Amino acid sequence: MVDINDYFLVKPFLNKNGNLYIYDINLAEFSEERGTPLLVTSEERLENNYFSIYNSFQKFYKKFRINYAVKANSNPAILSIFRKLGSGADVASLGELFIAKFAGFEKEMISFTPNYASKESLEFAVKSGITINFDDISQLELIKESHPEIVSFRLNPGIGGGEFPGIVTGGHGSKFGIPEAHISKVYKKAMELGIKRFGIHMHGGSNNLNVEYFKKITEKFFNIASNLRKELDINFEFLDIGGGFGVPYRINEIPLNMEEVAEGIIDNFKKYYLKGKDEPLLIVEPGRYLVADSTILLGKVTAIKNYDKKIIGTDIGMNILIRPALYNAYHHIAIANKLDAPLIDDVTIVGQICENTDKIAENRKFPETEVGDIICIFNSGAYVFSMSSNYNGFLRPEEILISKDSNIYTIRERDDYLDLVKNVKIPDHLIF
Ligand code: LLP
Repeated sequence: MVDINDYFLVKPFLNKNGNLYIYDINLAEFSEERGTPLLVTSEERLENNYFSIYNSFQKFYKKFRINYAVKANSNPAILSIFRKLGSGADVASLGELFIAKFAGFEKEMISFTPNYASKESLEFAVKSGITINFDDISQLELIKESHPEIVSFRLNPGIGGGEFPGIVTGGHGSKFGIPEAHISKVYKKAMELGIKRFGIHMHGGSNNLNVEYFKKITEKFFNIASNLRKELDINFEFLDIGGGFGVPYRINEIPLNMEEVAEGIIDNFKKYYLKGKDEPLLIVEPGRYLVADSTILLGKVTAIKNYDKKIIGTDIGMNILIRPALYNAYHHIAIANKLDAPLIDDVTIVGQICENTDKIAENRKFPETEVGDIICIFNSGAYVFSMSSNYNGFLRPEEILISKDSNIYTIRERDDYLDLVKNVKIPDHLIF
């Protein structure tokens, strides 16, 4: 039988006699000291996740690069860890570009994959010297006078995959990329604009735990790229297959075997695309896989209501963790100092936001709970802080990094109340 708590306690997080620890730091006590809500990230875990992908792909193909998808977690300290390991960065906006530069990424290591971008932002990206994965020919035409030397288009390979419909980005009905039937026309037009150097990109969706999905979509992608090469005599300098590697959020979900994934993808690459001496760069753009399980979100039980159902109120609301409200996403939740306590109640766990969708868990088996208990929410490294807000005037949490030698670093201060009015200006006639 799987132990419900051990299942999500990836190294260096651990369960010591029912208490959540990272190295020798008791996280319930630490949260009391620092205040909640609090995000605690493990540097060791980030590194392990990076090498899990890097080593798996390198084993089968050497000319390979990871471009970390900044959107998953854009804390510059976390970006710096990946930069030091040799990673590039994929950014979705000029804001993320600024963050990547702030974290020290060189322009050669940054790709920009925007959609429906403005002329001004595309021009800025060209001037910055970063690689652009254009979402459409119309985007390239906007800047045809000042186009970059190398152009990559985002292909919609006709299939996609993801945990929820909201995070599938390939296939019919997607707003992203160029459909297969039109891709050759698009590259031809780019050639007519005088472009001679090319790349190609796709991203089919997020949180996929099925190795077959990666085999299927890359077979399609490499076949289309190979047909383009034949038809238009294009030699792609890089092929970017996007992200989408999933992590288990629920008990009994089986983690991806990254080596098997890499082998399946590279097999397809060799079978359908690689020909002769030409060895293009192969890029992947993982976000979630690198950061999700590196971080635990800690919060405090503030109130308990027990009428027709038991509702546990906490200081973690949808302003911090929006995924359950937005996608009905599941995050495993436990009590940090009662990891071994029996699960006796069926509960709903909520935040303090004035919305009825502010529920981080429903119908959840949970241990006996008291006001003041510290809850811990697993897989909080991906799409948690980066999707957070100050809705209802709540402050965003402090972010902590625990280094490999178990030192404690604040990598982002908690918001203060002045942050809530930071850019505000009140016209003179409204002051008194
Ligand atoms: N590359 C591009 C162009 C993307 O749009 C994305 C994610 C990624 C890479 C990284 O995908 P990943 O490896 O993390 O699956 N907010 C949602 C996830 C949206 C992902 C959007 N694009 C969530 O909370 O699940």
